[in-house]
Amino acid sequence: MATPSLIQLVDIPQRGDARGGLSVAEIGGALPFPVRRVYWIHGTAPSVSRGFHAHKKLHQLCVCVAGSVRLSLFDGRREESVVLDSSAKGLLVGPGLWREMHDFSPDCVLVVFADAEYDEADYIRDRDQFISHVHSS
Ligand code: TYD
Repeated sequence: MATPSLIQLVDIPQRGDARGGLSVAEIGGALPFPVRRVYWIHGTAPSVSRGFHAHKKLHQLCVCVAGSVRLSLFDGRREESVVLDSSAKGLLVGPGLWREMHDFSPDCVLVVFADAEYDEADYIRDRDQFISHVHSS
């Protein structure tokens, strides 16, 4: 059986018209979980990389609503990356995945929907600790 990709993209319905774009993320549509928090990353210089953590329980949907960014995911064994450059695609990032964000365009706005409030205790910020965590679970 083929190994499932770490990159899980979802289509975000586009409801734009001649007046401009309109993208919809809702439960039963693009969002597979009830949202308890939304944050957005913007104004990150192209030379800056961020992320470098995993979550123990958190589920997220990342949508690049302007510009572009490359997200890489690592499950402790293999790494895959994807360029997000469309508000018509969202990247689902579940727990147990080390994520890094690279190559931000200057105009990038990355919106992240999450199924829980911010909780530092849910973070694993040390890569070696992350690898031990996935290999012990
Ligand atoms: P951090 O997780 O380091 O950002 P990134 O993974 O994008 O590099 O978060 C930066 C700071 O913001 C850190 O002090 C935690 C804080 N923060 C919150 O208070 N609430 C949030 O929802 C998020 C995502 C971060």
